[in-house]
This record gives sequence, structure tokens and C-alpha cells, in this order.
Amino acid sequence: MEDVTDVAFRTLIARYGKPDVAFTEFTSADGLVRADEKGRRQLRKKLLYSDIERPIVAQLFSAKPEYMREASKMVAEMGFDGIDINMGCPVNEVVRQQCGAALIQNPALAREVIRAAKEGFYGSPTSPECPVSIKTRLGYNEDTLETWLPELLSENPSAITIHARTRKEMSDVAAHWERVHGRLKFETMCNTRCCTRRLLSAMEMSKISPMQE
Ligand SMILES: Cc1cc2nc3c(=O)[nH]c(=O)nc-3n(C[C@H](O)[C@H](O)[C@H](O)COP(=O)(O)O)c2cc1C
Repeated sequence: MEDVTDVAFRTLIARYGKPDVAFTEFTSADGLVRADEKGRRQLRKKLLYSDIERPIVAQLFSAKPEYMREASKMVAEMGFDGIDINMGCPVNEVVRQQCGAALIQNPALAREVIRAAKEGFYGSPTSPECPVSIKTRLGYNEDTLETWLPELLSENPSAITIHARTRKEMSDVAAHWERVHGRLKFETMCNTRCCTRRLLSAMEMSKISPMQE
């Protein structure tokens, strides 16, 4: 969470109640690639982590495949265990750049961004081994999960986290938990085929079963 779950916060949590997986605050891939040295140093603070947090996943956002590819390469070199792509942030500043929840309205571009992240992080846009996951919402103005989710699943992400509201709903209504239940729960939470060994063992420890082929 932006401005909340920084490295100090996460390290404290890891020490006293270790989560199976930790995610950084969301970070602009475009900024990491394009900012001047000072700006880049500032952004990289969001990507500080401690080893106790592992597996640690960097959350990035971008609507530009070339910047996502480049930033994912940087993140791999920084030693992260995976990348989570934010496709759920509803704030105007992010959506105006076609990033975050705006990508729900452009599935073709969203899929390109996922492939670019895999290519940057792992060297292959289609590798099922590459630990790239997605955080998203039920839809943009309307709940379009029935069509949006299959688009994401086509790219074989390691996991999909769903904020059970639309972008339009921001955080103003109760979450539609029934939408993340049953079939969707199976398809998303259990789609662990392409997790790294570390993520897999974390899931084994928490008794989440990998998807049955
Ligand atoms: C201040 C704030 C910062 C957030 N930052 C992020 C973020 O960086 N990445 C992300 O995926 N979600 C972020 N979120 C969304 C939350 O992770 C979560 O999905 C959302 O608040 C829904 O949970 P709730 O119904 O308990 O509020 C943020 C939410 C808040 C309130």
C-alpha cells in the first residue's frame, strides 16, 4: 500500500508475523526508466527490501510495454523474487496515464504489458516459469470480470489478486466478496503453475493447492 507498507513496516511484520509473500508499494516503471538520477534514487527507495521478507515481490505499474520490460529487468537485477503488475489503482493521476485500473479497458495492451514484464524479468515473454502476477479489480465502470479474467489467465500469471470492487466504486461500497468465491477463487488463487519454487513452497506451507491440470 502506497505510503504505508514501506520496507520498515514490512520488515517489522516479517519479524513478528511472517506473511507467505510480501509486496512492495506500487512503483512507476516509467519513472524507474525515464527519471533523472535524483528521481530514480527517490523511486528506488520504494524498492528497498530486507532478506527476511522473502519471497519479496516488486509491484510495478505502466501502460508502456517497453518501459515495463526495462523496469522488470532492473527489478530482477535487484534480486526480487517476482513482479506484481498493478492493474487496479483507481486514482486519476494513474488512470490518466492509462495505467492501473485503466488497463481493464484495454485488455490487448494489458496482455502486452504482462508479456513485457516476463521478458524483462525472465528473458522470455511466454515462459510459464516466470513469477509475474496481477492485481486488478472487477471491472472499470461495470463488473466485467467474466471477460477480463480470461484475458489475464491467457497470459499464465503466477497469481491474480482481485480487489472486489470496480474502479468506479473506488472504495465507497462494500466489497463484492461473492465475486471472488467458488469458480473464480479456484481459477485465480490456485493458478500457481508458474510460481517460482520459493512461492510454491510458501503456498504449500499455507495449504493452497496448485491448480490441477
Ligand atoms: C492508502 C492506500 C494505498 C494503497 N496502495 C496500494 C498499492 O500500492 N498497491 C495495491 O495493489 N493496492 C493498493 N491499495 C489497495 C489496497 O491494497 C486494497 O486492495 C484496497 O484497499 C481494498 O481493501 P479494503 O476493502 O480492505 O480497503 C491501497 C489502498 C490504500 C487505501
